[in-house]
Amino acid sequence: MQRWNLLTKAIFRLKVTDNPAEFQALRRALKGRIGAVYTMGALHEGHLSLVSRARAENDAVVATLFVNPTQFAQNEDLSRYPRTLEHDLEAFERAGVSLLLTPTPETMYPSGYQTSITVEKVTQGLEGAHRPGHFVGVATVVAKLFNLTLPDRAYFGQKDAQQVVVVRQMARDLNFPLEIIVCPTVREADGLAMSSRNAFLTAPQRQAASVLYRGLQAAGEVYTRGERATARLIDAAYQVIAAEPLAEIDYIALNDPRTLAPIVEATDAPVLLSLVARIGTPRLLDNCLLPLELNNLQALTRLLGGT
Ligand code: PAF
Repeated sequence: MQRWNLLTKAIFRLKVTDNPAEFQALRRALKGRIGAVYTMGALHEGHLSLVSRARAENDAVVATLFVNPTQFAQNEDLSRYPRTLEHDLEAFERAGVSLLLTPTPETMYPSGYQTSITVEKVTQGLEGAHRPGHFVGVATVVAKLFNLTLPDRAYFGQKDAQQVVVVRQMARDLNFPLEIIVCPTVREADGLAMSSRNAFLTAPQRQAASVLYRGLQAAGEVYTRGERATARLIDAAYQVIAAEPLAEIDYIALNDPRTLAPIVEATDAPVLLSLVARIGTPRLLDNCLLPLELNNLQALTRLLGGT
């Protein structure tokens, strides 16, 4: 009973609509500087850190919850993506979001829909090479969400570093008048990056999954000791992760954080170390900037985000 009352109150304060046109009208009625956070739901502390930062820097925060079908490849199970709507509504409300859009695929891509956005170079490597069509889906839906939410600042997480670079490129190329803020990855106590997909890990897989973070740290330590040879930095992470029997490495890569061009030989300029490994079925992503001191909001925003 008490819980029911809480939720009713929560939904009363947070305005929620599944209608994009109604959302846009409500958004236009909001005054002042607006921060926006885009999610596919199954909220965790990582999402909430974006909302919290957006609240601190703006007059109001708007958010979206949409499991976008066009960014899932054929072999990726869209229907299994975790959906926790009631929990998410409470979490958005508690975090201080003013307005939430929860559209359906039919309202986002109505019959007759025929536009998509391709961002060229920065989508070619890393996740782009492993997930055909993924970034067309992401760039297109984010452009639509920018138009619906009309933010001054849009908040993204470092964990999907390539996504941020792709979205920034799209925003620049299409003249979206907004700033992209990049918030550091939020981690569990053992270093595992928070992700909605962690819910799919069994207990032994969950325990093994912290090896990704330990791999990043190992490369970071070698970098701190002065190593700049790309192969040795990658190998430092590889040795740690390959020692975990449940981990199957997809790739470990060193890229320029601004252009995502592969690093042939690192200098003292910042580099982005990305790694992806399967732990059982789930494919887990993690990354860090090197040197490790750069993994803070200001440096991340300067290197991966901005305007
Ligand atoms: O990062 C995500 O959750 C999604 O890719 C996003 C940005 C909400 C677009 O669907």
